[in-house]
Parts: sequence; structure tokens; C-alpha cells
Amino acid sequence: MATHSRLIATFTFLAGSVAAQVDYLQYVNVLIGSEGPYPGQAFGGGDIFVGGAVPFGVAKVGIDTYEDNVTLSTLNGGYTPQGRVTAISMMHESGTGGPAKYGVVAQMPLTTVDAPVNILDNSTYWQRRVGNDTAQVGYFKTELESGVTVELSGARHSGIMQYTYPQGSEKHVLVDVSHYLPDENGGSAVQVFLGGQIDLQPGGKIYTGYGIWGGGWNEGAPFTVFFCGEFEKAPDQAQTFRGRNTDPMQRYHAFSNEPYQQAMFGNLTEASGPLNDRIGAVFTWSNTSSTTVRSRVGISFISADKACAFKNAEIKSWDLNDTVQAAVHEWNADVFSKIQVPTDAPQNRTNLVLLYSSLYFMHLMPSDRTGENPLWQSSEPSWDDFYTAWDIFRCTTTLYQILQPSYYESMIRALIDIWRWEGYMPDGRSGNYNGLVQGGSNADNILADAYVRGLRGNVNWTAGYQAMLKDAEVQPYNTFSFTDPSASVKEGRGALNDWIPLGYVSSDRSTRAVSRTVEYALNDFALAQVAKDLAPGDVEKYMNRSAQWQNLWVHDFTSLNFTGFLAPRLANGTFNLTDYNPALCGGCEWQDISYEATPFEYSFTIPHDMQTLIDFMGGEQAFEERLDYIFQANTSQQNLGANGAAINTIMNIGNEPDFATPYGYHYINKQAKSVERTRQLANTYFHDAPFGVPGNSDAGALNSWLIWQMLGLYPVVTQTTILIGSPWFSDINMTVNGNRTLRITATGLDNADSYYVQSVKVNGQPWTKNWLDHADVMVEGGSIEFELGSEMTAWATGEVPPSPGHLVL
Ligand SMILES: *[C@@H]1O[C@H](CO)[C@@H](O)[C@H](O)[C@H]1NC(C)=O
Ligand SMILES: *[C@@H]1O[C@H](CO)[C@@H](O)[C@H](O)[C@H]1NC(C)=O
Ligand SMILES: *[C@@H]1O[C@H](CO)[C@@H](O)[C@H](O)[C@H]1NC(C)=O
Ligand SMILES: *[C@@H]1O[C@H](CO)[C@@H](O)[C@H](O)[C@H]1NC(C)=O
Ligand SMILES: *[C@@H]1O[C@H](CO)[C@@H](O)[C@H](O)[C@H]1NC(C)=O
Ligand SMILES: *[C@@H]1O[C@H](CO)[C@@H](O)[C@H](O)[C@H]1NC(C)=O
Ligand SMILES: *[C@@H]1O[C@H](CO)[C@@H](O)[C@H](O)[C@H]1NC(C)=O
Ligand SMILES: *[C@@H]1O[C@H](CO)[C@@H](O)[C@H](O)[C@H]1NC(C)=O
Ligand SMILES: *[C@@H]1O[C@H](CO)[C@@H](O)[C@H](O)[C@H]1NC(C)=O
Ligand SMILES: *[C@@H]1O[C@H](CO)[C@@H](O)[C@H](O)[C@H]1NC(C)=O
Ligand SMILES: *[C@@H]1O[C@H](CO)[C@@H](O)[C@H](O)[C@H]1NC(C)=O
Ligand SMILES: *[C@@H]1O[C@H](CO)[C@@H](O)[C@H](O)[C@H]1NC(C)=O
Repeated sequence: MATHSRLIATFTFLAGSVAAQVDYLQYVNVLIGSEGPYPGQAFGGGDIFVGGAVPFGVAKVGIDTYEDNVTLSTLNGGYTPQGRVTAISMMHESGTGGPAKYGVVAQMPLTTVDAPVNILDNSTYWQRRVGNDTAQVGYFKTELESGVTVELSGARHSGIMQYTYPQGSEKHVLVDVSHYLPDENGGSAVQVFLGGQIDLQPGGKIYTGYGIWGGGWNEGAPFTVFFCGEFEKAPDQAQTFRGRNTDPMQRYHAFSNEPYQQAMFGNLTEASGPLNDRIGAVFTWSNTSSTTVRSRVGISFISADKACAFKNAEIKSWDLNDTVQAAVHEWNADVFSKIQVPTDAPQNRTNLVLLYSSLYFMHLMPSDRTGENPLWQSSEPSWDDFYTAWDIFRCTTTLYQILQPSYYESMIRALIDIWRWEGYMPDGRSGNYNGLVQGGSNADNILADAYVRGLRGNVNWTAGYQAMLKDAEVQPYNTFSFTDPSASVKEGRGALNDWIPLGYVSSDRSTRAVSRTVEYALNDFALAQVAKDLAPGDVEKYMNRSAQWQNLWVHDFTSLNFTGFLAPRLANGTFNLTDYNPALCGGCEWQDISYEATPFEYSFTIPHDMQTLIDFMGGEQAFEERLDYIFQANTSQQNLGANGAAINTIMNIGNEPDFATPYGYHYINKQAKSVERTRQLANTYFHDAPFGVPGNSDAGALNSWLIWQMLGLYPVVTQTTILIGSPWFSDINMTVNGNRTLRITATGLDNADSYYVQSVKVNGQPWTKNWLDHADVMVEGGSIEFELGSEMTAWATGEVPPSPGHLVL
């Protein structure tokens, strides 16, 4: 049972707040991330979803497109700026890398179904678009070259579509149950359609059924989505169809490259599977002069009846605007109004757009599937589309805890319930299936972060700690994935067989040895943090293991005049320094020595023991010089492809491992330099523009990093520490912990360069540390008063942020 309430009515605006009347929608650009460095192309962009959705909704209703110039992940969100439309579908991810997942439960408006159109061959009916799309919170509109205008909106488990056909044209809607988002490059992680059913009610006004799909980036098992579609007016003709499935299905099915045949038309029902025909239906309106066809569709993981019930309950009227307004209301009440800033002049409008758009993008995923778990019976909430913990543990989930405590408690309970019923918490999870694990078992970090910051509620922490212990102690079965056949990529820690006996992940027996060593160390620190309360006898063990990153440290290895680096080590104990350059990583892929960042970058990411790290790097001055170096232009030696879009410094804000790195200066009490660097990164790479995030937005991870910048704060994950930065607004009222207010004010923000901290007060007290504790302001609320100016000052003279994992092996 979910303890949180989704009822908008329970929300009360902050008393006396003028900002509560603000229409935040004008400040949300839902297209930030829709393009990459090449204007008009999604290539290298944020891979975002664009369409109708509510916060953490199950349905994300939008167009599926195909763009020629693709990378693996270009089509993931469905939307591309100029791609050809193949369908309007009900489920999408947002911002994820890797091959596509979802794009299922589809409709497509057609003005003809006669040759050359073949309904089994999407390339005979896909549509370029004309004019510019209109995309807003809860609303999307586009015009197809056929002349059909598509408008849509989304509710929690349902969507509404409105098609306006050209005067006099034929009016058809194709429902291809076998449709899904493609991955034209093929490979082992493509999705597959495995079967389904479609039933038309007599007259064809309502159709129900289900589809089964599998595969996709997380190499997921088949999942079933039931659907219930309804048209406002009964069609004049409705026919089911079936046709041979010619799609190659890795490891399942014959690879047939025969040309598409013609569909065979049936009558009221069509069923298929497993691994059998494609199925669908065509609906036609011929006896009406109206040019508009409206449809509402519900989805469920449990039954078609539930899908119908969602459709009826969530979309009560045929006026599309009603659904739009309901979505807008929910976004305003549950998301945007939680951070209130001045909106009147001279406020910089760009900053307002960056703030509210970022809030939007970090609330599209994961999906709250409470009551919709088909796999086991449980009273716990159910969530899916963790895509992935690796991306969101660093600063996104802490923000969920602060801004969305009831949703977040529900999410944590769902993570633990997955362990209870399936054996492991997920790192990635989608389509009700765990996978993929990019590094450590980072749900551990999420749980520890929630625990130390005080989340209790109805979370069973005894079970939570057991779930963490499973990650720390039990090697998962090898999945023999083509992605990396050396160990499990599904869940848990695939290299425990190195980590436990050797004290590090070796480079000859395991892949991603350097990055997994660093991540496993933090995971074990996470266990130690929770064990302090729940299993004091375990603390020493996990503290010791949290220091095992030191076993990969080569104290006398020098690169670019910097001495002391993480380096690959063989299982026999000998470091392999042959041709070793820590600024390179092969391709930073699954079977390389480090993942999505170089060992040079990972050598900075020891948040639990910065004290030892600074010592190992040669002390404060050497540490500072090394930090300075990675921000210099043209220092990057590794080509990260689309993952490093347009970034030529070693510091890569486009990828999560480096998120906290610019805050390294805090640990040598040079807070002003952290502010300088983070401003520089935010201003250079984040824009109110289609190419407005540096690469995949990663389920909003990049967007949440920006929100922290704007608040002038940054969390240290798995600890209660919050680092002090420099806010972008003169006044911020933030609703924290459900109903408390944290007010952050700043004077001196009068010109563009005036953002260095001169002084800080916390809850009215002068503050000399460059950090504060979560409980200082995030539990009961409080105040932070900044005095800003254009001079870098050494205002912080107090102790540096703690290194609670300090331990030298
Ligand atoms: C995509 O387009 C860009 C710019 O036109 C080009 O540089 C790049 O090579 C193209 N990529 C692919 C995969 O075709
Ligand atoms: C589409 O948007 C672009 C960029 O804002 C603008 O230049 C162009 O005129 C618009 N086209 C139409 C048809 O509105
Ligand atoms: C078109 O449909 C076929 C058959 O289902 C599928 O293999 C292909 O990926 C689809 N292409 C696009 C661009 O959606
Ligand atoms: C289905 O078949 C029945 C009997 O052959 C026929 O009366 C009915 O009109 C058909 N329905 C549709 C939607 O074509
Ligand atoms: C949609 O509803 C809102 C709020 O009721 C109203 O202001 C707006 O004009 C409506 N838009 C359309 C296109 O009807
Ligand atoms: C923040 O709250 C205070 C106290 O209610 C109010 O005076 C101030 O105007 C608010 N600021 C913003 C930006 O909403
Ligand atoms: C508004 O802020 C953006 C950065 O967020 C900056 O590029 C722009 O110059 C600012 N505009 C004004 C008028 O200050
Ligand atoms: C909490 O989890 C533990 C361990 O799985 C279990 O034994 C206990 O019954 C659970 N407590 C409640 C209240 O469900
Ligand atoms: C040591 O590293 C080099 C360079 O990456 C590699 O070619 C070699 O296979 C490694 N040796 C062992 C024993 O793994
Ligand atoms: C390393 O230091 C030497 C001596 O100071 C200098 O000549 C050289 O340019 C430096 N190399 C790099 C990569 O900074
Ligand atoms: C470990 O293996 C490497 C590569 O086979 C070898 O060069 C090295 O001498 C071995 N070290 C020990 C301690 O046996
Ligand atoms: C905030 O909510 C909690 C829990 O619902 C309640 O106990 C408390 O009284 C509320 N506080 C305020 C200031 O409204």
C-alpha cells in the first residue's frame, strides 16, 4: 500500500506566498535536450522524452520517430526533432543511453491504407513532419506531411490523442500491437515483440488486449502491457489483422530477410505468440464529415479491465484540454511550486527556465507502478524504470528525499521489495526486470543516503540492510551477456570474486576494474553507514572494505607531472603499468578498465575519504594543481563519442562520475574555486536551448545537478553533508520534508560576475564552514543567507567537510 497521497487536493500552497499564483508553465522548456551539437539532429543530445506525462507517471505518451543519423541511444525517448513518425505510443524512457526500450501500445493516423502503404511495413507509411512542433508540459502537437495534425496529452496510466485529418481525406487509425521503438543498429540489446492479443468490441469503438515485449538496453525479460483503447465515435469499419513477424530476434528466432508480405485481415479478435505473428487492427471512419478522431487509451500491467478502468477514471472527457489542465495542475502543485523564486523583473528569465525545466526532467522517471506489479503480491509500493541508480544516486535521489519525501519513501520501499522477491535490488530496472549494472550496486548508496538523512516512515530498514548485505556478499549468477560475458550485468556486484579475496577488482579476471573498485568502495562505505545503527558488529568490516580503493593506488606512478594514480592490477598482485595512461580508458565501455570516465577522473571520486585522497595526491597544493589541470581546455585525451559531446577537458560534466569533482576545492577550504568551476560548467554546458544539456540527460540526473547549482548547495552522497555553493536567485523558498520551508536568500547578485560568497548565515547564525549538515536546514526547514560579490574571498575558515570514511590501509 502506498503511504503517499497523489491527491492534488492535499497540497496546500505556502501561506501568504505571492509566487503560488505563478504560472510556472511559461518557464518550462520541455525540449531542452532534444538536440545534440548538430542543429536539428538528436544525435549526441539528451535523448529526452517529449509528450504528455505526469510526475513519475506510468504513461509517457509521445511520438515514436526514426532519424537517419542515429547513435545507439538517439531514438530512446521516441522523439527526435526531424525524425519520421512511425507511431504515437504510450510508454517511453527519458534521457537514457543505450539501445531503446518501450515505444509500445501504439496508434498511427493514416490517410490511406492502400498500396503503396503496407501496414506491416512502417517505412511505407511513416511521416515527416511539417512546421514546428508545439511542446508544453502535458501537451504535444505536431503536423504530419499527410496533413494530419496530432495532438496528445497524458494522465497517470492513460493518454488522449486527437487527430485532425485534412478536409475530405480518408480517416484511418492503425493500431499495430507489434510496434516498438527500434534500434536500427541491431545487436544483442534490440527489443522484440513476442506476441499479444487484440479484441474489438462489436462496432469497434473499444479495443482491448495486450502485447508482450522483451529485450532493450537492460536486456530485459518479456513484460506484458494490457491496453484498452476507445474512440469517441464508433468507426465505420474495424478489422483486426495479422502478418508474419520477420524481425530478427536475437537468440530466439529465425532471422528472416524476406520482404514484408501483406497483412491478412480478420474480424473481432486476433492472438499471437509466443514468437508468432504480428497483430493489430485498422479503424476507419468514412461516413462522417467531421475531420476529428479522438481516442483515449489506458494501460495496465495487470489486466485489460484495469486498463479500461484507468482510462475511464483518469480521462473523463473528450476535451483534450481537460487532460492537459489536470496534468499541468499536478506539475504545478507537486513539482514546480516546491521551489519558488522571484519571477518579476529584473530576474533573468533564462535562469527561471533552467530551474523549472530541470525540475520537470528529473520527475519523468522512475515510474510509480504501485498497484501494478504483475510479478508478486505485496503490500509494498512498486516502482520501475530506475534507469539507473548509477546515474541518479549522485545527487538526484537526495533531491527526491528533500522535495518529494512521500514519493521517495515509496521508491525506497519498492527497491527493498524487489530484493525480497527477486533476490537483489536493481541498479537499472525497466520492464519489471533488473539490469544493467554499470559499476557498483548503487542502490546501496541510495539507501544509505536516505537512512543517514533520516528517512524512516514505513521503510523496513532491517530488510533494507539485508538487501545491502546481499549486494556486498553474494556474487550474482553470470548472465553471459554479450555486453560483458565475464560476470553478471543484471544485478549485484559481478566482481565480488575479486573484491572480497583480493581487496580490489583485478584487471585480468574482471572488466571495468578501476571504476568498479572505486564504486564498490563507496558501496561498502554505504553499508558501514547503515550498520552503525543496525549492525554495529559489521561496521569495522565494511569500513575496511571501503578503503580498498587504496589497493589500486600506485603512489609513485606519474602522469602529466602528477604523481599517484589508480591503476590496473592483476589478480597475482602485480600492477600492470605496461603502456598505462590514466587519461585513457580504451573506450570507457563495458569491457574496458574503467566505465564512462577515465582512471584520471575516477582518481578524484572518493567522497567518503577525501582526506586520504588528498594525502595520496601529494597534499593540498598538488591536489589543487591537479584539479586545476582537469578544467583546462584540450586536456582530454579520450574520445568519449556521444558521451562526451563537445567537451574537451578531462573534467566531463556530461557524465555522472565527475559530478562532485569540481567541489574538491571545498576539501582544501577554497570554496570560491568550487563556485568558479561549477558556474563555469553550468554556464558553458546548460542552456535554454534544444542542445541544452551535455549529452544524455540520464533520467534527469544532469538536470538535477543543475538544480543544486542554482540552489547554491551540493549533497555529499551517503553522508549528511551538504556543501555550500552560491545560489542563482536572490530569494528561494523551498518546500522541504513535506511541509517545511527552507529559505535561501542572497544579496549582491546585481551583475553577472557577482556570485562569489562573501559571508553566510545559517538559521541566523554566522557560518564559517563551507558545508552544513542535512539536519541544519532540510528536516525542520530553516534559512541560509548569502552575501555575494564579485571578489573571491576566503570567507570559510572553519573545518573542511568531513571524511567519515577516513582510514589508511
Ligand atoms: C551525423 O551527422 C553529423 C553532422 O552532419 C556527422 O558529423 C556524423 O558523422 C553523423 N553521424 C552518423 C552516425 O551518421
Ligand atoms: C519554426 O521555428 C523556427 C525557429 O524558431 C523559426 O525560424 C521558423 O520560422 C518556424 N517555422 C514555422 C513554420 O513556424
Ligand atoms: C518498422 O517495423 C519493423 C517491424 O516491426 C521493425 O523491425 C523496425 O524496427 C521498425 N522501424 C522503425 C523505424 O520503427
Ligand atoms: C465481423 O463478422 C461478422 C459476421 O461475419 C459481421 O456481421 C460483422 O460485421 C463483422 N464485424 C466487423 C467489425 O467487420
Ligand atoms: C484550456 O483550458 C485552460 C484553463 O481552463 C484555458 O485557459 C485555455 O484557454 C484552454 N485552451 C483551449 C485551447 O481550449
Ligand atoms: C519566501 O517566503 C517569504 C515568507 O513567507 C516571503 O516573504 C517571500 O516573498 C517568499 N519569496 C519568494 C520568492 O516566494
Ligand atoms: C541570464 O543568465 C544566463 C546564464 O544562465 C546568461 O547567459 C545571460 O547572459 C543572462 N542574461 C542577462 C540579461 O543577464
Ligand atoms: C522487516 O523485514 C524483516 C527482514 O526481512 C522481516 O523479518 C520483518 O518481518 C519485517 N518487518 C515487518 C514489520 O514487515
Ligand atoms: C597489461 O596491460 C596491457 C596494456 O593494456 C595489455 O596489453 C596486457 O594484456 C596486460 N597484461 C595482462 C597480463 O593483463
Ligand atoms: C612537467 O614539468 C616539466 C618541468 O617543470 C615541464 O617542462 C613539462 O612541460 C611539464 N609537463 C606537463 C605535461 O605539464
Ligand atoms: C603476475 O603476472 C604477470 C603477468 O603474467 C607477471 O609479469 C608477474 O611477474 C606476476 N607477478 C607475480 C608476483 O607473480
Ligand atoms: C507537517 O507534517 C507533519 C506530518 O504530517 C505534521 O505532523 C506536522 O504538524 C506538519 N507541520 C506543519 C508545520 O505543518
